[in-house]
Amino acid sequence: MTRKYLVGGNWKCNGSLASVKQLCSALNAGDKLDDAKVEVVCAPPAPYVLYARNLLRPDFMLALQNCWVGGCGAYTGEVAADMVADCLAPTPWVILGHSERRHLPELRESDETVAKKTKYAVEKGLQVILCIGELLEEREANRTQEVNERQLEAVRAVLSPDAWDRIVIAYEPVWAIGTGKVATPEQAQETHAAVRQWLIAKVGRQTADNMRILYGGSVKGSNAAELACKPDVDGFLVGGASLKGDEFLQIIAACQ
Ligand code: G3H
Repeated sequence: MTRKYLVGGNWKCNGSLASVKQLCSALNAGDKLDDAKVEVVCAPPAPYVLYARNLLRPDFMLALQNCWVGGCGAYTGEVAADMVADCLAPTPWVILGHSERRHLPELRESDETVAKKTKYAVEKGLQVILCIGELLEEREANRTQEVNERQLEAVRAVLSPDAWDRIVIAYEPVWAIGTGKVATPEQAQETHAAVRQWLIAKVGRQTADNMRILYGGSVKGSNAAELACKPDVDGFLVGGASLKGDEFLQIIAACQ
């Protein structure tokens, strides 16, 4: 089974018109993507997404970092998946269930909320990078797989089996995010393989074989290649290093 790598750049809540312009021109200066091998999607903060769309080469796709649980209406401050589909057609992406949205005390998104958002986004034609992952204390208590399965099960409970082909799973151990403490290639491989086993058992063999499972957490130009060569690591969701054009290009190069 050959899965195409996906590299996501999650710019989080960073940037300005000037820095977005600079980052887009650094990315545009990179080699053409080998589209048989890798896809790239950048997720700027919402106010900059159309600006980035106008600046970036068309082979870079764009994503929002979040969207609302349903359609347009009186939901002040929210962005509906319908709008993402409208603005980012023909390849609208969204990141859902990022650990910062699950765990920041001001946000505290539940598994069920993430699942509801995922279902609605997929129904509107979006491709979803669905983030899962455990806290440090959960890993230390050997609960990684239990946590990942709980987060995935909430989605499985509401999603039709054929909708999984619009999902990419990003495994992001919370203890590795923004800490400089990357999971070892063996830890990533073991966890991704276990997620794929869950998919085989709960969704189906074909979905499991086709599913791209990304690793996220302190990925850099210097550690991407050793992670990317693991059989169940199908790309990355990159935070801090995606804000540096040269380094993000190095990570993409590790997947080509
Ligand atoms: O979405 C990206 C992840 O949170 C990883 O962030 O690369 O800064 O550790 P990081």
